[in-house]
Amino acid sequence: MAKPARGGNPRIADRALIGDIDPRAAQWQTAIAATVLDPPTGPITGRMGVYDMAKQDAGAAGQFAIAGEIGVNRLGFGAMRITGDGIWGIPGDVEAARRTLAAVPTLGINLIDTADSYGPFVSEDLIRSVLHPYHGLTVATKGGLVRHGPDIWLPLGRPEYLRQCVLMSLRRLGVERIDLWQLHRIDPQVPADEQFGVMADMQREGLVRQLGLSEVSIAEIEAAGRHFRVATVQNQYNLVDRRSEDVLEYCQRQGIGFIPWAPLAAGALARPGSALAEIAGRLGHSPGQVALAWMLQRASVMLPIPGTGHPDHLAQNVAAAGLHLSEADFDALDARGRQAASAARAA
Ligand SMILES: NC(=O)c1ccc[n+]([C@@H]2O[C@H](COP(=O)([O-])OP(=O)(O)OC[C@H]3O[C@@H](n4cnc5c(N)ncnc54)[C@H](OP(=O)(O)O)[C@@H]3O)[C@@H](O)[C@H]2O)c1
Repeated sequence: MAKPARGGNPRIADRALIGDIDPRAAQWQTAIAATVLDPPTGPITGRMGVYDMAKQDAGAAGQFAIAGEIGVNRLGFGAMRITGDGIWGIPGDVEAARRTLAAVPTLGINLIDTADSYGPFVSEDLIRSVLHPYHGLTVATKGGLVRHGPDIWLPLGRPEYLRQCVLMSLRRLGVERIDLWQLHRIDPQVPADEQFGVMADMQREGLVRQLGLSEVSIAEIEAAGRHFRVATVQNQYNLVDRRSEDVLEYCQRQGIGFIPWAPLAAGALARPGSALAEIAGRLGHSPGQVALAWMLQRASVMLPIPGTGHPDHLAQNVAAAGLHLSEADFDALDARGRQAASAARAA
C-alpha cells in the first residue's frame, strides 16, 4: 500500500491512497466493467424474478468454523451498503436497509461483516437497532480507519486509537465481547508490531474473541501471526479480480477464513449482460449468483459477504448458496474471470 501523505487537504492528498472505495479500486472496477461487460446476449431466464425468502437458505453454502470455534454459514452479508452515498451518513432508503437487515436471519445468514467506519457508525447502529441481541448471529466488525467525508478513508493504527475503536464498537453493538474484530488496514505510519500487539492485548483481556486482518500480504499475515492467531483475512477478491490469489491459497493451507470483499466486483458482476451472462443464462441463474457460486466452490475457507441495501437483492444473492456448478462450468467461469482480470490489468 502506498504511504499516505499526512497533512494537507485529505480530500486531495489521501483520497487516492486508501479505502474501501479507493479510487484505484474504482479505476480497477471501471476497467473490469469495460472489459468484462459484453453486450447482453438476450434475456436471462430462470429463477431471477421474485424470490421467495422462505426458500432461500445461506446454510446451503456449507459451513466454516472461524478459528475452529465460531461456526458460520459460508455465505454472509456485507453491511457497508446500508449507509449513504460514499459510505457516509444514513442510507437514502432507511426502511429498505432495515428490511434488508431483518431478512438476514430469515435467509439463514449468520455472519455479518461491518466496520465502525461504515457511515461512520451508521452500519453498526442499524445492525444493533434491528438485530440485537443477535441470537446466533456473528457480527464481525473492523476498526483502524478514520473518515473525513464521503469516500475518504484514512488509516489510523495508533494502539490507543485501535483500543478506542474496539471499546466503541462494543458499546454501539451492545455486546460484552466482539466475536471477530478485524484491523481494517495496517497503518504504514505506525509500527505494525504495535498494532498487532494491542490487538493481542485486547484478545487476552476478553474484549474480542477472534482477530482478523484486511488487505494484507502473506508476509503481513505471518508477522501478525507472531502476536495472535489470525482467524480471518479480508482482501478484495472476485472472479475478475484475482490479485489476492496467493493470499487465498495461503489461507486455504492454513485454515484461515478468507472473506473476499467486493465479491460481486462492487455490483459489476451482478448486472445482466456481463461476461458471465452466457453461462448464467444456460444455468437459469443471474450472473451475480453464478459469480457467488463460483467463489463458494473455489475454496472451502471462502466466506463471501455480498453487500446490498435491498432485501430482494439479498434474497437473490442467498439463492447462490444452493447452486452447484459442474466442473466444466466452474472451469469455464474461471478461465473467463482470469481473462477479464488480465485484460483489466493491461488496460
Ligand atoms: N475490508 C475492506 O476493506 C472492505 C472494502 C469494501 C467492502 N468490504 C465489505 O465487503 C462487503 C461487500 O463488498 P461491496 O459491498 O463493496 O461489493 P459487492 O458485494 O461486490 O457489491 C455490492 C454492490 O452490488 C449491488 N448488488 C448486490 N447484490 C445485487 C443483486 N442481487 N443485484 C444487483 N445488484 C446487486 C449492490 O447494490 P444494491 O445495494 O443496490 O443492491 C452494491 O452496489 C461490503 O458490504 C463490506 O462489508 C470490505
